[in-house]
Amino acid sequence: MMMDAQYDDAASAFPPLSARASAPGKLILCGEHAVVYGQPAIALPLPDIRAHVEITAGSPGSGVRLNAPDLGRAWIADAHPDDPLSELVRATLRHLGVDPPDLHITLTSTIPIAGGMGSGAAIATALVRTLATFMGHTLPPEQVSALVYASEERFHGTPSGIDNTVVAYDQPIWFERRGPAHPNLITPISIAEPLTLVVGDTGIRSATRLPVGMVRRQWQANPTHYEQLFAQVGTLVQQVHTALATGEQATLGVLINANQTLLEQIGVSSSELEHLVAAARAAGAPGAKLSGAGWGGVMFALTNPDNQAAVMTALTRAGATRVLATTIHATQP
Ligand code: PMV
Repeated sequence: MMMDAQYDDAASAFPPLSARASAPGKLILCGEHAVVYGQPAIALPLPDIRAHVEITAGSPGSGVRLNAPDLGRAWIADAHPDDPLSELVRATLRHLGVDPPDLHITLTSTIPIAGGMGSGAAIATALVRTLATFMGHTLPPEQVSALVYASEERFHGTPSGIDNTVVAYDQPIWFERRGPAHPNLITPISIAEPLTLVVGDTGIRSATRLPVGMVRRQWQANPTHYEQLFAQVGTLVQQVHTALATGEQATLGVLINANQTLLEQIGVSSSELEHLVAAARAAGAPGAKLSGAGWGGVMFALTNPDNQAAVMTALTRAGATRVLATTIHATQP
C-alpha cells in the first residue's frame, strides 16, 4: 500500500497540506461465487492497476468535497449523504474519532469500473487509507478491510469479503468466509513461479449483485445441485493452491479451465466471456477463465513470456475492449 503525507512545516503543522494513498485492483484466480457459500478462493492484487486518492485541506466551512474525474462526478458529502463514498468518509472519520473537517478529496483510478477487477474496493481502500494518513493515523489492513466491507455490504448485498481483503492486504491470499460469529480465514499464499497473466475486458459492465443474486435464487431453488457445484470449485481451489506452491504451471492451466467449466454450469459466464476464453486458449494459453462476478467484466489467461504477445493479439482480435499484461511475482508467505 502506497501512502504519503506532505506537511508545510514537518515539526509543527497538523493536519498536513495533503495526503495520498493508492490501492491495487485485483483478480480472483479461482473460487468466485462458491466463496460466498463458504468454499475457499484465491485472489491476487494487481500492483500495476491502481486507484489513487489525494486529500488536501479545504477552505474553512467548505465541508467535505469529493471529486472523481474518471466518473465525471464532483459532490459535497453533506449534500449527498447516501452516496456510498460520502457514507464511507463519515464511517472512517467516526472510526478515527474525529469530527468531519474541511477536506477536498480527489479520487482517480485506472481500474475498469464494474469489470470484476475490484475497482470499488480499491477506491474505497485508498480513500480510507488517505483519510487515516491525513488525520495522522495508521490503520492496520484488517481495520481498513472491515470499513470497506461494511460499505460494500450496504450497497452490494452479500459480498463474501474477498475483494476488500485482497485489496487491503495487498498480497496474494487464500480466503474462506466464515459465519458472522467467526473471523474469515485469510492466509497469504506461496507462489513458486511468477505468473504471467493477460487480462481481457469484454467491455460489458455488470453489477456484481446481479449474478450473485441469480446464484442465490438458483441455490435456494436447487440446493443439492448447487452445493455440489460449489464443493467441486472448493476442491479445485485446493489443487490450485498446491500447483502454485510447487510451480506446476501446466497443472494450473488445467485447473483454471476446469473452474471456467464450473462457472458456466453455475450460470455466470456469457458468450462474450467464452469467446475471449476460447481465443486465448487457441493462441496457446494453457488456462483461461472469467474472473469476478461474471456476465460481463473480465477474463484472464495464464501465459508465458513466449506466448504472451500472441495471446494479447488474439484477445484484441476477438473483440476485447482492453487487454492488459501483468506479472504476479513469486512469493514466500
Ligand atoms: O465482480 P467482483 O470483482 O466484485 O467479484 C465478485 C466475487 C463473487 O465471488 C462473485 C462475490 C463475492 O462477494 O465474493
